[in-house]
Amino acid sequence: MTLQHNDVRHEFVEAMSRVASSVWIATTDGPGGRLGLTVSAVTSVTADPPTVLICVNRKTPIESAIRESFRFVISALRADQRTTALTFAGRPSDGEPYDFSTSSWTAAPSGVPMLSGAVAWLDCHVVATHQIGTHSIFIGRVEHAGNGAGMPLVYGRRSFAELLHLPDIAGHLATMPAPIWDEPPAEEFDL
Ligand SMILES: Cc1cc2nc3c(=O)[nH]c(=O)nc-3n(C[C@H](O)[C@H](O)[C@H](O)COP(=O)(O)O)c2cc1C
Repeated sequence: MTLQHNDVRHEFVEAMSRVASSVWIATTDGPGGRLGLTVSAVTSVTADPPTVLICVNRKTPIESAIRESFRFVISALRADQRTTALTFAGRPSDGEPYDFSTSSWTAAPSGVPMLSGAVAWLDCHVVATHQIGTHSIFIGRVEHAGNGAGMPLVYGRRSFAELLHLPDIAGHLATMPAPIWDEPPAEEFDL
């Protein structure tokens, strides 16, 4: 790798650390096992037909499990579910990493586990896979979707936070955005 590559890599990682994203748990179940992983690389692709993509590191066991099952569910975490985010990022504050018994789950229509209390969930069938560098991009056709109450958990500046002043879903966006950041927790988390 060239010096220039490393410089750009560092600037890229720093740039991405400055933006905020929702935090999801991706799950799958099938021949490769029942597995979950905390992910933020989730993008809505199109509503016609309903399609999302997720990016999953190829070194994770769930990456090969999704390639085998052709299925994944993503559950968007509620602001008070950061302990689940840590458990499925492999850094639990308590208990074993990636341990399903530390959170409450129900079965999505496909049978893949989805997180109870999630603010949104999507039950997906993989229609395309691309490999870019260290990651696989899974493009999923959304077969079932749902939502729940509460504020979303967000991740930015290497910390978890809760967005304040988001309007109720039935309300209107404020014309003047209010300050949004909760006090960041002390610990930082390197992806
Ligand atoms: C907020 C957050 C978002 C993450 N997003 C992704 C992601 O989109 N894709 C991914 O493959 N890993 C993502 N990770 C990393 C994995 O959850 C997990 O921490 C990592 O695979 C563990 O690697 P290790 O066992 O080598 O430490 C994220 C972690 C955190 C805390």
